[in-house]
Amino acid sequence: MPSGKNEWWRDAVIYQVYPRSFSDSDGDGLGDIPGILNRVNYLDNLGVDAIWISPFYDSPLLDGGYDVADYRLVDPRLGEVSDIEDLLAAAHSKGMKIFMDIVPNHTSSEHAWFQEVLRSEPGSPAWDRYVIKEGKGSNHELPPTNWQSVFHGDAWSPLVLANGEKTKYWYLHIFDSSQPDVNWENPEVRAEFEDILRFWFDLGIDGFRIDVAHGLIKDQSFPDINYDSIPEQELLGEPILTPFWDQDGVHEVYRSWRKLADSYDPPRVFCGETSAPSPERLALYQRPDELHTSFNFDYLRAGFDAAKLKTSVDATLLNHKLVSAPATWVLSNHDIVRHATRLAPGQSEHPTIMPTPENADRGLSRARAATLFTLGLPGSTYLYQGEELGLPEVLDLPGDARQDPVWFRTQGKELGRDGCRVPIPWSGDIPSYGFGPGENSWLPQPDSWQNLSVQAQESGDTTLNFYRDALAKRREEPATGDGELEWRMDEFTIANDSVLAYRRPHPTQPLTCIMNTDDGMWKVPQIFGTDVLVASGPEVAVVDSGDGEHLVIGPETCVWVRG
Ligand code: GLC
Repeated sequence: MPSGKNEWWRDAVIYQVYPRSFSDSDGDGLGDIPGILNRVNYLDNLGVDAIWISPFYDSPLLDGGYDVADYRLVDPRLGEVSDIEDLLAAAHSKGMKIFMDIVPNHTSSEHAWFQEVLRSEPGSPAWDRYVIKEGKGSNHELPPTNWQSVFHGDAWSPLVLANGEKTKYWYLHIFDSSQPDVNWENPEVRAEFEDILRFWFDLGIDGFRIDVAHGLIKDQSFPDINYDSIPEQELLGEPILTPFWDQDGVHEVYRSWRKLADSYDPPRVFCGETSAPSPERLALYQRPDELHTSFNFDYLRAGFDAAKLKTSVDATLLNHKLVSAPATWVLSNHDIVRHATRLAPGQSEHPTIMPTPENADRGLSRARAATLFTLGLPGSTYLYQGEELGLPEVLDLPGDARQDPVWFRTQGKELGRDGCRVPIPWSGDIPSYGFGPGENSWLPQPDSWQNLSVQAQESGDTTLNFYRDALAKRREEPATGDGELEWRMDEFTIANDSVLAYRRPHPTQPLTCIMNTDDGMWKVPQIFGTDVLVASGPEVAVVDSGDGEHLVIGPETCVWVRG
């Protein structure tokens, strides 16, 4: 992490591990905690400051672990609490922090609390821990509101008791029907989640990523939504105003959580998975007595478009500055199409067919450029496992292998998110490419991945070595991380709206990041110098066309230069 900044989270590079797909120590086809432990050296050499591990709790896995059956247990297929302690010790010995995921909006329907609902009388205290309401219609045969699930279909399901008795009640599930929403109006719920945080903080966990952080509080008048007046609801609960997103009351929860985190030495840290309808509303979550950071999905949606990227960077920095919080940046995660595929020419945010080989190559060039551009921005950056290998989205998984509830709830009309969760190729030339000791992997890996494994990319001009190089530079260069950004757009001698350039000032080691989003070469004005620190692609040259030396950068390429 760049020197001189004492709050590590303000400018850390945090690597997301999706544990079931990262590394399998026992050959059952499912990644596990000892598997992560085996890869701590790899992550250390890659040059990341922290690891965020997606849920590893006990879970029926109906939503990849975001359906938690017991918040104090590790899924026995993944290990046990002592494995987490070993992992913490190994990571901490290398100076790396560990974030885990807390899922407070809903539990699994297999959680003891929901099971208690199914075995108790309507109106009993157990019922008040969930959002349960009488159905509408003369026989209560209609859901209480018209709210739609993020995963498609109704957000309410009829409540049928364990003994098979039908009731006039429905329970809310903003996600899958196996994920009942918890009632955050109930003080017992608040106390329980703080106790869970304490359990893991006591163990030494450095912080939490908060799942659906903007969703906990529901408008208690339970109004219907006029879906015709808002854009189509997208996968992650996009920044639209609904009675279940971004309600003011949610801030009280985080003020209380912050006090808890601050009571530890060193203080523990939060990053919210927060979608708000505007950058101003998003910034409210990062007020000094709330969450330290939140994900910034606006930037992720800007694509490979110079104007949109600049607008998003400006709005993000402005609004974070107002609350003295650092920005975060991310291009890929376990919920969205990998950026090597998403950024390929002609792709949409939800592509369904693989790009042509030529466009796939361009997608990777663009992804590398976007990564370098991102790593230079002020704040912290999240990387998603496998992006350092340039892994593409796997769009052609067989239907019977798919496991995402989105695939099931849309009857296969939407592919869902399995394509970015295919297990990582580490080595060798037959599946599972070193993911586990044998050939098992819970999702099949494409044959082409033998050329993308860590082993295959150890030497040469590979995407893995580019990431290592860029992360090393980010660590060495004191201008990166937290701090100021100055656009240098006005210094272009040639007007070119496909190029972005910003400077990170420093008294002795300033640097400038220049990105060419165009598909042609770009002659960089002399004022930018020729001292290249790191480049996202091979086509970078110093030429002298008679008027002195200047840089030429290739299509869809980003460079950092001194100055
Ligand atoms: C978050 C997670 C996603 C999960 C959903 C429901 O958006 O990132 O994977 O399906 O919440 O928990």
